[in-house]
Amino acid sequence: MLNLTEYYQWFHHYYSNFYSSDPDIMRMVELKENHSIRVAKNARDLAEHIGLPLKKINVAELIGLFHDIARSEQAHLKTFNDSLSFDHGDRGVVRLEETGILDTLDIKSRENILFSIKYHNKMTTPSTSPDKMLFTGIIKDADKLDIFRILPPIVAEHDYSPILIELLKEGRVLPYSEIKTMADKRLIRLGWIYDINYQWTLAQLVNEGYVDGLIKALPDTPQFNEIKDHIKDYIAAKMSESM
Ligand SMILES: [Fe+2]
Repeated sequence: MLNLTEYYQWFHHYYSNFYSSDPDIMRMVELKENHSIRVAKNARDLAEHIGLPLKKINVAELIGLFHDIARSEQAHLKTFNDSLSFDHGDRGVVRLEETGILDTLDIKSRENILFSIKYHNKMTTPSTSPDKMLFTGIIKDADKLDIFRILPPIVAEHDYSPILIELLKEGRVLPYSEIKTMADKRLIRLGWIYDINYQWTLAQLVNEGYVDGLIKALPDTPQFNEIKDHIKDYIAAKMSESM
């Protein structure tokens, strides 16, 4: 049986090795340490909501706890931008394997944890076993839910990149590589809505006003009204699906 307390102790100890007297680094380390704790809770809540057995609920919580383990290293490079540093999903897998923290788990749980951490920050997940898809979907939702809650609203003019507008009209998830302006980040966030896997997650984003906030921030022009209608229809359809 999993004793989650020990994993939490290990996690805090691991992160404490990255504490720094540089206030910028320290702030970044703490940001991700605290984010991880909240994502672990989100992942557990979501896993419970969809009715997983206790063992899988615990695995989901561990994935949340460990998914950003490599962010501690990025803090020391003063960037959370993977393309300017390293892929933090891949690096997380390396670190978890090196430390041996997962060694006492059964092989299936271990594989599920490593796979979903590797792919939690990728645009697409290669098709794999149902369990790996399940846990990857859970961590991506749990992660996005916390990110929506902590990111400040974007202050920017309406200088959007045309390619992102076109992709959004089709309800596509937007590639970070196409971000050219601050305003584009607003579109990226809207695109995340199409990448939410579970009704549970979407319901919270709607109820907490994040979806309306994003929609209201867009200009009142025919092409943006098309985007707004598309997202509203998408959400209405998702919310009326039976679970
Ligand atoms: Fe991450």
